[in-house]
Amino acid sequence: MPSPVVVSNRGPLAFSRGADGSLVPRRGAGGLVVTLGPGAQRAGALWVSAALGDADREAAAGAGAPDGIVHADDGFRWKPVVVDPVQYQAYYDVVANGALWYCTHGLWDLPRRPRFDRHWRDAWASYRAVNSAFADAVAATAEAGSTVLLQDYHLGLVGAMLRDRRPDLRTSLFVHTPWCSPGEMAVLPDDSVAELLAGMTGAGAVGFHSPRWADAFAECCRTVLGASPATFVAPAATDADDLRAVAASQECRSELAALDRLVGDRQLIVRVDRIELSKNILRGFWAFDELLETRADLRGRVVFGAFVYPSRQGLPDYLAYGQEVRTVVELLNAKWGDDEWTPIVLDPTDNYHRSVAALRRYDVLLVNPIRDGLNLVAQEGPLVNDRSGTVVLSRQAGVWDSLGEHSLGINPFDVTATAEAIAEALDRRPDARTAAAERLATAVGAHSPLGWWDALVDAAALTTASDARL
Ligand code: G6P
Repeated sequence: MPSPVVVSNRGPLAFSRGADGSLVPRRGAGGLVVTLGPGAQRAGALWVSAALGDADREAAAGAGAPDGIVHADDGFRWKPVVVDPVQYQAYYDVVANGALWYCTHGLWDLPRRPRFDRHWRDAWASYRAVNSAFADAVAATAEAGSTVLLQDYHLGLVGAMLRDRRPDLRTSLFVHTPWCSPGEMAVLPDDSVAELLAGMTGAGAVGFHSPRWADAFAECCRTVLGASPATFVAPAATDADDLRAVAASQECRSELAALDRLVGDRQLIVRVDRIELSKNILRGFWAFDELLETRADLRGRVVFGAFVYPSRQGLPDYLAYGQEVRTVVELLNAKWGDDEWTPIVLDPTDNYHRSVAALRRYDVLLVNPIRDGLNLVAQEGPLVNDRSGTVVLSRQAGVWDSLGEHSLGINPFDVTATAEAIAEALDRRPDARTAAAERLATAVGAHSPLGWWDALVDAAALTTASDARL
């Protein structure tokens, strides 16, 4: 059996310089490595991804001939893709995160943005060039007849490129974002949309976390390409064993003790997110404000812990959003707080053990994205929570499909409804909390990263890259 190949923008390893100047690999950030890592390690997969920082580039250069593959101790085999930094920035910041992310999540502020001018055409050319570099790297290293698992919107054109360059490969593309309606997609320039959808469907099959996103994608393809794509649905799962080990670690227990001292005997609302427009952080705070307005009995009795850390700092919108988050927290703490009680504790440090400690301690976990491909935090909380806490969950998250019936559902735009759901969760009687928390943990535990990996491989195996229809 040829080794499978995983292809993603961000890879499983990130290199840095150790104290002695040597290059040290660490596990890369983000949900992709959590969900795909165990299957890739078990299968001995080759992972093709971009060399992101200087240390990554040096590690890539050190890998040398003949295959340019970096072998790490924990079983990952990494094939770095090294691209020109200016071209990479246009591909990543302008096209992938500045346009495709906004489009699929419905984030645009249409009276003002986007503005697709001549710079867009240059950026799109960079997107095409970086996709081509990924396709070349796969074409040069994949064994004959390999299964190739392409990941996400960064690599929308690679499927069609591989079909031309290596028709022997069995390829699928998995999209971790939601997908949008043809009307929302039509905001992108016509030629970009047509090239994107043709590129994506060039992979044998296109997968999503939820049937909602797969249906929307198929609708876009019918509208733009006049043909139905081969799609599949396979929701990813978090690694429960790994997460429970982190929750039981000494580092996490120390963070939990510190959090306990801070919160005391009050109830705790928690959110754990990147500072990301789609996460709807501001409306979460406004819902808390409305809760304190309408429920005087809760003043001084509840703390909102916001464990939110910076992301995509290359985009001005994200910097501005981070500033707004800080401003709203200051405003609400000044409005409601006193010497004894800080209503909102904002923690912008990306401290994984502290975030997991917060997931152990919550009474209410607020997951209220505007639109989300899946949302792993809603899976992680119920696995480690010590207090039979309740999940308040946006119906626009892909994970709603499996966890919605055991959560309190909200329309993420409705601040009043969010405040009411948080109040209902805080008021829940212990027996109702316990029963719902047990059902949630069971629903999460029914899925695993290895099962998800098998689903991706099965979907790719049903087709070949030269056959765009299942
Ligand atoms: C989130 C999304 C993924 C995406 C990733 C990229 O986790 O759910 O769809 O691939 O962000 O994050 P990055 O930090 O690499 O831009």
